[in-house]
Amino acid sequence: MANIGQLLTLRPASAKAGPRRGTDLKELGTIKDAAVLCMEGTIVSVGTTRDALRDAWLKRNRSKVTEIDCSGNVVVPGFVDSHTHPVFMAPRLVDFEQRIEGASYEAIAAAGGGIRSSLEAVRKASKTALAAKIAAVLLEMSAHGTTTVEAKSGYGLTIESELKSLEAIRDASSGWPGTVVATLLGAHVVPKEFDGRSQNYVEIVCNDMIPRVARRKLAQFVDVFCDTGAFSPEETSKIFEAAETHGLSVRAHMGQLSETVLSPFFRFQPASFDHMDHVGEADIAQLAKRDTVATLVPGANYFLGLKQYPDARRMIEAGVPVALATDYNPGTSPTISMPMAMSLACTHMKMSPAEAVAASTINGAWALRVADRKGSIEPGKDADLAVFSAKDYREIPYWFGANHCATTVLNGVVASHS
Ligand code: NIG
Ligand code: FE
Repeated sequence: MANIGQLLTLRPASAKAGPRRGTDLKELGTIKDAAVLCMEGTIVSVGTTRDALRDAWLKRNRSKVTEIDCSGNVVVPGFVDSHTHPVFMAPRLVDFEQRIEGASYEAIAAAGGGIRSSLEAVRKASKTALAAKIAAVLLEMSAHGTTTVEAKSGYGLTIESELKSLEAIRDASSGWPGTVVATLLGAHVVPKEFDGRSQNYVEIVCNDMIPRVARRKLAQFVDVFCDTGAFSPEETSKIFEAAETHGLSVRAHMGQLSETVLSPFFRFQPASFDHMDHVGEADIAQLAKRDTVATLVPGANYFLGLKQYPDARRMIEAGVPVALATDYNPGTSPTISMPMAMSLACTHMKMSPAEAVAASTINGAWALRVADRKGSIEPGKDADLAVFSAKDYREIPYWFGANHCATTVLNGVVASHS
């Protein structure tokens, strides 16, 4: 790729290892008039176009190289969307209208809407039908600049339908050139048939779902929705223990509706706590010392029409590593667009455009434990890049509501959208 006006490499800002925090979050490692050379899905050199043209290897092999002329535009690392729920069949339009009329997310869920109302269609659907839905979503995501996606199950909530959901994620991923990280979210909500006996359902998650998913290598992570109306901190610890026993890493939906004290969970070394609308001072101080990422999903606050957003400034200033993700799902955040999440982060959480870029790339990669391969444009990393029709990276969150991604490179495979 040559003739890049602004290349945001996101190469390390300091010698500090681990996810970006504090002022390092806005260091983008920008190179003007840049070029990136990739070979067989890997980045081999990054520098100015002038330097690239002087490269002896390139001089000899120019005719064999596919050149993408970026016309002076912006190139960023492909976005890492580290929190999505793509395995569902239908939008929840009734919930949407009820919320507009004044009902809250919690009230709709308690009345039989919410997550529970998405279960039947997924239980009935064939694996092929689910995989087709996911495949279409992955394609749309990459058209908006995303190259790595975390995909959760969680709308089946029986052993069979959770396995089917994860198989559908695997099947859809195999036809998409990007990278998918799968997560078992068997503990999304207690299904109706277990009303009043949530501990029985937790036992199924721990003793059946997790071992089977681990044995069949269908997921890398186990997630839990830990909140009022979902799973308690004690249940969450039990599920994390089972995940640990079976060699799966953990992450959780935390502090979306109410605060949960985080200290009991640090011993499981969670990759990420997501939402984090409600979080206490002591936990912020703990997170600042650890590599557990706080993944903020402002699309959910926007779509639920909430006035409050997570306090990103307080977290960043305290040194908590912050990532951004879409939380793509039918209930709270039906968007696939990382630029939209970034725009909301800027306007409603007062993150700077530079912080939003780092939170959507390198820190998303940390949240998925793939930062050795993803999240920055450096020699040796996977060739995941996105070209935007823009001269300045700040245009990415600025032009909200329209897609300005022109080309995406996923593991070296070029997809043009304009
Ligand atoms: O991240 N909070 C739990 N899960 C989703 C919502 C799922 C749904 O409503 O379908 C979230 O907001
Ligand atoms: Fe979510």
